[in-house]
Amino acid sequence: MEQINTYINTHKDRFINELNDLLRLPSISADPAYAEDVLATAKAVESSLIAAGCENTEICETKGYPVVYAEKMIDPNLPTVLVYGHYDVQPPDPMDLWDSPPFEPVIKPTKLHPDGAIFARGACDDKGQFFMHVKAVEFMIKNNQLPCNVKFMIEGEEEVGSDSLGDFLKKNREKLKNDIILISDTGMIANDVPSITTGLRGLSYVEVEVTGANRDLHSGIYGGAAPNPINVLAKMIATLHDENNHITIPGFYDKVEIISDEERAEMAKAPFDLEEYKKALDIGDVHGEKGYTTTERFGIRPTLDVNGIWGGYTGEGAKTVIASKAYAKISMRLVPDQDWHEITDLFTKYFESIAPKSVKVKVKPHHGGQAYVTPIDSIGYQAAAKAMETTFGKTPVPQRTGGSIPIVALFEKVLESKTILLGFGLDSDAIHSPNEHFGVWNFLKGIETIPYFYKYFTEMNA
Ligand code: BES
Ligand code: MN
Ligand code: MN
Repeated sequence: MEQINTYINTHKDRFINELNDLLRLPSISADPAYAEDVLATAKAVESSLIAAGCENTEICETKGYPVVYAEKMIDPNLPTVLVYGHYDVQPPDPMDLWDSPPFEPVIKPTKLHPDGAIFARGACDDKGQFFMHVKAVEFMIKNNQLPCNVKFMIEGEEEVGSDSLGDFLKKNREKLKNDIILISDTGMIANDVPSITTGLRGLSYVEVEVTGANRDLHSGIYGGAAPNPINVLAKMIATLHDENNHITIPGFYDKVEIISDEERAEMAKAPFDLEEYKKALDIGDVHGEKGYTTTERFGIRPTLDVNGIWGGYTGEGAKTVIASKAYAKISMRLVPDQDWHEITDLFTKYFESIAPKSVKVKVKPHHGGQAYVTPIDSIGYQAAAKAMETTFGKTPVPQRTGGSIPIVALFEKVLESKTILLGFGLDSDAIHSPNEHFGVWNFLKGIETIPYFYKYFTEMNA
């Protein structure tokens, strides 16, 4: 297996060039204007899997964007790893905050990535990360080092909620059959502090609309007498948290998994520097639920955040107006065993109930998903930990993260498989943000680590 290092050294420029070709395709799933580019990206992903030596590749139609499937089956008696990733990306906005165009990848060093980082939308989330798997499998196939079967399923709608994937899983149970699912779409603590994500939060995403009068009003003639939906919405949002930053929606915490003091103490051992955290974000203080530490606030506690709020006049200069409507987009991050449909209902009922009679309120549910926790005593986790230990020279730390990959809970429900979240990004890689990047070192470290996972997973299964 030492050959992996030689292989990487010989081919690393090609790996980076190939990744850059993928990064040039603006596969923005949220914006229908990019539909052609999203489909072209699916084709490019398929070609990369063929070039890596995979077989039976297929661009599988769904009711949304297609799933790219590929496999290399060497022996039905050996275990099968299913690699999941997504080829779609978040919109690049706001464009003016990018130092270089989002779909023209450039490599520049940063403080945390002295060997250079690839700057482009999708560099870390998730093109750069799923592409590590394509290259790791290329190495294993071309050097007769693939110890088990592998299947790929790379989708194109993760960033908009993976709406078509539930159906796709149900229809393709047999095709997707596996012993473990392996995903690189998360991060690790630091390049010298390897970690494995053991928990993802669930999500309920809603949009609210508050309507006052039947038209926009002169803010002098009507101000103070007619309802102002923006004022009302701001106040309604403010009441969703109490003075301890607990969420006030009745029943919201009823099903939240209770974590023992022992387990909390164990989690607290993961390295975390609060001062560094504040410095990196340039904030005077952290903010969150009373009684919990920062890592608990994003790891094991549910939250509610406004993601966007609009209404009224926001153009140049001033316009004296009371808008007829105000809007907000709100996400709730959930933890085991909250049910996202139930939480969406609780939110809707409560939000409607706190509206004054002067306005009308509409709540429109968007997508959602369940939280996920991986047991660390499983073979999958042990194989991943041993793989990281081999290539980082350190035992990885298990850590729950705040982000969501809703399909992971469905994998468990529909395919009855556990997922290992072996991510190589850093929180500072600015995913979903301008200047998203992925360290070249991280990209190559991922390619180096992945073949060891296959080796140890196969050995441990024997
Ligand atoms: N890769 C992220 C999720 C992630 C990132 C998890 C870092 C943990 C650490 C994924 O692409 C993502 O952005 N998910 C969305 C959810 C989706 C339904 C839009 C999210 O978490 O907002
Ligand atoms: Mn992702
Ligand atoms: Mn994402």
